[in-house]
Amino acid sequence: MARILITSALPYINGVKHLGNLVGSILPSCAYARFMRQRGHEVMFLCATDEHGTPAEIAADKAGVPVETYCAEMFEVQKGLCEGFGVSWDWFGRSSSAQNRALTQHLAGKLDEAGLISEVEERQFYSPTDGRFLPDRYVEGTCPNCGYARARGDQCENCTKLLDPTDLLDPRSAISGAKDLEIRATKHLYLRQSAMRERLREWIGAKQDWSNLVSSIAYKWLDDGEGLQDRSITRDLKWGVPVRKGDQPWPGMEGKVFYVWFDAPIEYIASAAEWAEAKGLPDSAWRRWWRLDEGAEDVRYVQVMGKDNVPFHTINFPATIMGSGEPWKLVDLIKGFNWLNYDGGKFSTSQGRGVFMDQALEVLPNSDVWRWTLLSNAPEGSDADFTWGVLQTALNKDLADVLGNFVSRVTKFAAAKFPSTSGAPSAALPEGGAPGPLEAELTENLDKALTAYAAHWEALEIRKAASELRAIWSLGNDYLQRAAPWSSFKTDPAAAAQTVRVGVNLARLYAILSAPFIPEASGKILAALNLPEETLKAWPKDAASALTALAAGHAFAVPENLFRKMEDSEREALEARFSGGAA
Ligand code: 2FM
Ligand code: ZN
Repeated sequence: MARILITSALPYINGVKHLGNLVGSILPSCAYARFMRQRGHEVMFLCATDEHGTPAEIAADKAGVPVETYCAEMFEVQKGLCEGFGVSWDWFGRSSSAQNRALTQHLAGKLDEAGLISEVEERQFYSPTDGRFLPDRYVEGTCPNCGYARARGDQCENCTKLLDPTDLLDPRSAISGAKDLEIRATKHLYLRQSAMRERLREWIGAKQDWSNLVSSIAYKWLDDGEGLQDRSITRDLKWGVPVRKGDQPWPGMEGKVFYVWFDAPIEYIASAAEWAEAKGLPDSAWRRWWRLDEGAEDVRYVQVMGKDNVPFHTINFPATIMGSGEPWKLVDLIKGFNWLNYDGGKFSTSQGRGVFMDQALEVLPNSDVWRWTLLSNAPEGSDADFTWGVLQTALNKDLADVLGNFVSRVTKFAAAKFPSTSGAPSAALPEGGAPGPLEAELTENLDKALTAYAAHWEALEIRKAASELRAIWSLGNDYLQRAAPWSSFKTDPAAAAQTVRVGVNLARLYAILSAPFIPEASGKILAALNLPEETLKAWPKDAASALTALAAGHAFAVPENLFRKMEDSEREALEARFSGGAA
C-alpha cells in the first residue's frame, strides 16, 4: 500500500467554471484518486478555491457585494457543483483560510531569512480618482503592438503580447475610466528565483516520467530567461494575505498583500491543515503528508492542471518551497492538460461561450455522462473539441449501447430464466456447467485488458484507460452474443447457466472497473447485484477470479435503466441553445 497525495489546480473564485476547467484538472484528478483508493492505497485528494487577487475584487465589484461575501458565496456554489459531478475530494478548502494566511506569511519569512527576498522600487500607476494604485489588470489602454484599444495592463487579449501597464498608449483606470493617472513609486518584495536556477534545473532534470508537454514548458521557462526573472510577490491591493514576516510586521510593506500566485499554491498545503482541523485531528495528521521530516518521505505527490498553470508549478512554487529551506514535499508527477475547445472555438468565461458547470447539470443531471464524455475525450495529447455530437456518441454508443445494454440484457435474462425462489431480489445465480472455449477466450482477452487498463491508470493516461475500458465492456457483449444463452437455454440449459454466471460476474467486474469514470452507475450496478459498496475495493487479481467471484445462489435484481439515450432532436436543441454567445 502506498500513500498518494493528489491536488487539482485551484479554481478561481470568480464565477462558475466551464467544461474546459472541469476536464483540465478537476475530473481527471478525481478519477485518478478513485482508482488509487480502489487499489487499496491511502489517498489524500485536495483542492480549494483560489480566492485572492484582482479577478475576485473585480467580480465582487460587479456583483455589488464585499469581496469576502462574494468569495464565501461562490465557494459554496463551486463546492456544490463539483459535488454534483461526483468529485471525491478529501478536502475542498479556501485559499483565504487562516491556515493559508499563516503558512504564506511563514514561508515568506523563511525565504527572507534565506536571503531570497529583495525589495524593489517599482513605478506604478496611481489613480487619484480611485484613491489607489492600479494593479496591471486595472489599467486599460491601447496595445502598442497591435493597436487594440481595450488591451489590459498585463496582456493584450487581441495579440496576446505580454505587457507592462506603462507600455499602454492612452492608459486609463479600468475601475472608473479616469485618465488622470500618475506614475508613483511603490516598493515591492521580489522572490530571487534566478538564484535557484541550477537547483531547479537539477530537480526538473530528474523527472523522467513527466510528459513532453510539461517538460517542454518547464525548460522553456528555465532557459529563456523570462520565466526565471526575479518576480514580484506583493501587490498594492486590499484583498489578500497581508504581507508579514512570519508573525512579525514587515517594515515598509504595510497595507500590501502577497500576490495571488504566491499564496494560491501554498493553499495546497494549507488545505490539508484545514482538513485536519475540520476532522478534529492533530497537526501531525496533515504534516505526515507534507513534511519530509514527519512522514512524507514515502508519499507520492501528483498534481493535475491545465497547461497554462504548468510554469507556476514547475518553477515558481518549487522555488518557494525549495527556497524556504524547510523539508516540504515537492511534486513527483505533474499531469498537464491541453485546451478543451467548444465547437471549434474557445470556451470563454467573459463572453459566456461554451457550457458552464451549472448549465451542464441542469440540461443533463446524470453526471456520469459528463464524466465519461469529457474524460474519454480529454485534451491529453493535444487540444480537443467538445461538441454535443461527441457527447451524444459517448452516451448513446459507449454508455447505453455497450455498457448499459450488456448489464441490462444479462440481468434481465437471468431474472426471466433463473428467478430467485425467495421473491425479490428477482434472480439467483445458477450453478452453471463447465467453462468452454468461449469462456477460455474471454478469460485470456480479459487478462490482457485488465493488465493494460491498470497500467494506463497508473501512468495517468486517461484516454488510453477509457479506450481500454470501452474494449472491456465490448468483450462482454461479444461474449454474450456468441454464447447466445437465449438459444442454448432450450437445448443445453447448463451452458446457458454458465453464460449467465459469467455474465453477471462481468457486470460486477464492470461496476468495479468503471467506478473511476462513472461512479454513480457503478453504485447502481452494485446495488442491484446486492453487493456492498466495499466491493469497489475488490480490484480483480486476474480474469479467472473475477469471473467466479459471485457464487451460485447469489440473489440479485435487474438494475434500473442505467443510461437514457439522447435523441437527435434533443442534441439539436442543445446545439441551438448553446450556440455562440451567452447561453
Ligand atoms: O488558473 C487558475 O485557475 C488558477 N486559479 C490555478 C491556481 S492553481 C494553484 F497553484 F493554486
Ligand atoms: Zn495587441
